[in-house]
Formats: sequence, C-alpha cells, structure tokens
Amino acid sequence: MTAATDRRPGLFVTFEGGDGVGKTTQATLLERWLTDAGRTVVRTREPGGTEVGVLIRDIVLHHRGEVSPRAEALLYAADRAHHIETVVRPALDRGDIVIQDRYLDSSVAYQGAGRVLGRDEVRQLSLWATAGLLPDLTVLLDLDPAAARARLDADDKPFDRLEAEKESFHARVRDEFLVLAAAEPDRFLVLDASSAPDVLAALVRERVKTLLG
Ligand code: TMP
Repeated sequence: MTAATDRRPGLFVTFEGGDGVGKTTQATLLERWLTDAGRTVVRTREPGGTEVGVLIRDIVLHHRGEVSPRAEALLYAADRAHHIETVVRPALDRGDIVIQDRYLDSSVAYQGAGRVLGRDEVRQLSLWATAGLLPDLTVLLDLDPAAARARLDADDKPFDRLEAEKESFHARVRDEFLVLAAAEPDRFLVLDASSAPDVLAALVRERVKTLLG
C-alpha cells in the first residue's frame, strides 16, 4: 500500500462527518486561510470531483429506483478511482494542498456500516481503487444526527438518497466514523461540530500548521 509519505511535498486534507455537520463551511474557511497565505489549493469533493464523477454523483444521490448496496459501493469507488488518478494525485505531485469534502472514510461509514456491507471489504475496495492513497489529515466533524438533521431541515432543500435514510442508518454512520478515528488517531482530528464555526476553523488551522512545518 502506498503511504501518504510516499508522495511529498503536497498535503492531502479531507473533511468527513454525517450530512449537515458543516464540512463545506470548514473546508471553505481552510481554503481561504491557505490561499491568503499564498499556498496553492485544489478544492474538491467526492462524489463529483470530475466530469465522470458528476454523472456518478447524479446516479448515487438522485436515481429514483433501487440501487443495490454493492452497486452503490462500486459507484462511489469508481468515482474515487477516477478522481484520485486524474485530479488528486497530480495536484499532490505538483506540491499543491488538496482540500477535499469526503473520501474513503465516507464509504466505510455509509456503505460499510450504514448499508452493513462491512468495514474491511469496503475499505479494501477504496484502497484498491486509489492504489492505497490515504490523507495526511482527516478532520472529522462529529455531531448528533438529530442536530444535523435539524440543520438540513432548516436548509429547506429536498433530501438526496442518503440523507433520506432512517435515523438508525445515520446513527451507524456516526458511530463508524468515531471508530475509524479512534483506530487512526494520528490521521484524524475529531471536532465537536456543535461548536461555533470560527472556533472549529481555528482548531483545524492549528493542526494544519503543524503539518506544513
Ligand atoms: P454531500 O456531497 O452533500 O456530502 O453528499 C454526498 C452523499 O454521499 C452523502 O450523503 C454521503 C454519501 N457518500 C457515501 O455514501 N459514500 C461515499 O463514499 C461518499 C464519498 C459519500
């Protein structure tokens, strides 16, 4: 497996957590801080960080009929394989900082635990898809799913296929993210997403500073 350290000098930062926890806000604040400091940042997301990925995103989030759990896992993995090869690795090789909404931990939490496909199989699928690329830092924004749901309700947008899942699904997703973070404490920064956005942003900056040296 290719460890993150095999491909310096870029930095790969991912934001993870349930729906409605504030990942996009934090990714935007970090991007702004880094670009103001003169760094080159590639801001991207999964699913949907490439042209092919946008098509896959539409299937996994908005297809009206059934998508079997294994097919769903493979679609996310296909999006990821193409995205990492054509966008993320080239950026890291150039020495850029990649800030990404969601990565393989989302697959382990949503497909592995939410859809009950199993942690190890889903993780191995993503590692195969990406030739083993792991982030240097993963910020997990942890929030009680009921509080996250209230934020989504306030947004007043229609729910996608995953957001529309039951409370028990989102509880499994949250628990799995916490298990993953506990297993890799060096890679993860776990933050209480009920804190104010500027407080969270300062904590993220502090950790990123230590990685930039
Ligand atoms: P988002 O871009 O608004 O976060 O929506 C993406 C949805 O897709 C979200 O509900 C989480 C879900 N998802 C998975 O189930 N597996 C994955 O691997 C990824 C990246 C996202």
